[in-house]
Amino acid sequence: MKLYILSKDKAYDCVACEIISLVTQYPDATLGLATGDTPIEIYKRMVEDHKQNHTSYQQIQTINLDEYVGLANDHPNSYRNYMHEHLFKHVDIDLEYTYFPSLESGFLKWMSQSIIHLQLLGIGNNGHIGFNEPGGSFESSVHEAVLTYETIQQNRKYFSSQVIMPKKAVTLGIKDIMKAQKIILVATGKHKASILKKMLEEPISNRLPASILKKHEHVTIYADFEAASLLDLSHSSYIKKEGFYEICN
Ligand code: GLP
Repeated sequence: MKLYILSKDKAYDCVACEIISLVTQYPDATLGLATGDTPIEIYKRMVEDHKQNHTSYQQIQTINLDEYVGLANDHPNSYRNYMHEHLFKHVDIDLEYTYFPSLESGFLKWMSQSIIHLQLLGIGNNGHIGFNEPGGSFESSVHEAVLTYETIQQNRKYFSSQVIMPKKAVTLGIKDIMKAQKIILVATGKHKASILKKMLEEPISNRLPASILKKHEHVTIYADFEAASLLDLSHSSYIKKEGFYEICN
């Protein structure tokens, strides 16, 4: 596992760069995408690059990590709408090949036959990835998840007072995420410092879903200085390399 600790802007630049170079090299790649505040700046950079350098998404397929249950696609709070506003409508992607998890057999079949080349992840304050909440199985595949009280509190800010926030979502499972060829997890801001420390420095446990990523062979974490501020970088598990840390467990 590689860990880069950078300024917030540099971290977003690097992640956007990694995605753009994958798309350039493999124009028909499958990208695993995330929502939340964290990826917004990354998508901005991808849009900027598309405008300036014409990087094409015409043959790219995307699969998002999760979607709320009960919200129409065009509902302002649906994750499809989020993706449309922040990325899809600004690039030349074919919307037919932009997938969101569902329990329909067509989707499950597509999922079982697809390989995610690069999975982008944020991390919830309770250590969730996608909507794989603490206590869930590491063997899970696509499923309906009941959101924890903490997650509901964390995400309520996106919903206007007139909208009842869904308490359930369909999410890729941990097993689906772990099958991705490469994973990039991004953690920025002081509010991510404590969970990033737990994820990296505590034993792997389903109480902290993101901790399983330590078992994946190709994970890169981009943290900004604030999110990395509590890490015990003098510990022998962090091996300093040129510009990054290699983390061994
Ligand atoms: C949501 C999403 C997660 C995301 C997390 C963190 O709950 N389901 O995929 O990683 O929020 O979001 P943020 O980037 O806003 O901190």
